[in-house]
Amino acid sequence: MSEVKIGFVGAGGNARGHMERLVAIDGVSIVAIADVVEENAKETSAQHGATAYTDFHAMLDAEEMDALYVSIPPFAHTDAEILAAQAGVHVFVEKPVVLDMDKGFEVLEAISSAGVLSSVGYQLRLMDSTRRLKSYLADKTVGMISSHRWGGLPGTGWWRVMDQSGGQLHEQTTHQLDVMRYVTGDEVVQVTAKYALRTMGDVENITIPDSQAILMEFGSGALATLSTSPMMTQGGGKSDIVFLLRDQMLEWSTAGIKSIPEQLPEFEGEAAATPNIDQVFVDAIRAGDQSLIPCSYEDGLRTCAVTVAANESAATGQPAKPAI
Ligand SMILES: NC(=O)c1ccc[n+]([C@@H]2O[C@H](COP(=O)([O-])OP(=O)(O)OC[C@H]3O[C@@H](n4cnc5c(N)ncnc54)[C@H](O)[C@@H]3O)[C@@H](O)[C@H]2O)c1
Repeated sequence: MSEVKIGFVGAGGNARGHMERLVAIDGVSIVAIADVVEENAKETSAQHGATAYTDFHAMLDAEEMDALYVSIPPFAHTDAEILAAQAGVHVFVEKPVVLDMDKGFEVLEAISSAGVLSSVGYQLRLMDSTRRLKSYLADKTVGMISSHRWGGLPGTGWWRVMDQSGGQLHEQTTHQLDVMRYVTGDEVVQVTAKYALRTMGDVENITIPDSQAILMEFGSGALATLSTSPMMTQGGGKSDIVFLLRDQMLEWSTAGIKSIPEQLPEFEGEAAATPNIDQVFVDAIRAGDQSLIPCSYEDGLRTCAVTVAANESAATGQPAKPAI
């Protein structure tokens, strides 16, 4: 097994999960970790035998690595991915890949010119239920899609600030949207969104809406509605995606697919183990094969473009088109 050396920009909650999974893979080491909060960089570096930095520029100047993970809030993406790609370092970028599309196009250009591998953290693409549904839908016509994500409010301060997270749709419910794009192989061509702050105005520093209703039109003509809210702060909620076909409803969840009126052989039986997204990325690096990675940077940027368009539509009151 060839050795794979990894660096990190961002050492928060999500990055730590990637770190744990990576160090469990034979021949993988985490060599350096940069976080603007020194304690986060030092603590995780001590755990994984890496060198800690507070400035990723200094890290990228000093360290040799095969791949860089970028796991920071949406507003914080500047030039880490670009500098890494220019140095021939493969990149794993957490969703949503950016807050604004101009930055996304800059990063995409750097990745494409350098020819490095890229991966985005849309791990729901790797679920057995997603894989089975994609294959089932390949020769079917989807009429409508309806999805909810009603959950709680994450504790991180930046999440409730619109200029930092982009709001729940952009930051979190992007996963549901990405599943819709992935299983249908269809692209959203127009988005109309309405947002409101109805019940959570008392939350300190909140500038995101707590009610987001989105209507999307796909290139095929299929229509989708998405409803998302972090109002369920005491637990509970709802998370689903339902695909409506002629005479059939297919309800996707991470646990499996429920078909109405009857269960179909395609969706029966145990779900296969889901390969972990970090193992898949390391395998792709070792094989030098982008096709092993379920979501490239460009593909992730397409999902991001839809939620950026939704935010634009909600701000202008007009329908908006994704920029890519
Ligand atoms: N794929 C998934 O299921 C999944 C799950 C959770 C989070 N995420 C994504 O991961 C990213 C990080 O989320 P999180 O929950 O870990 O947030 P977090 O707030 O726990 O961690 C973010 C870290 O980034 C650091 N940071 C901010 N700006 C930085 C910069 N310029 N340079 C270096 N470090 C910087 C912060 O100090 C913090 O340690 C977000 O994009 C989020 O959407 C993905």
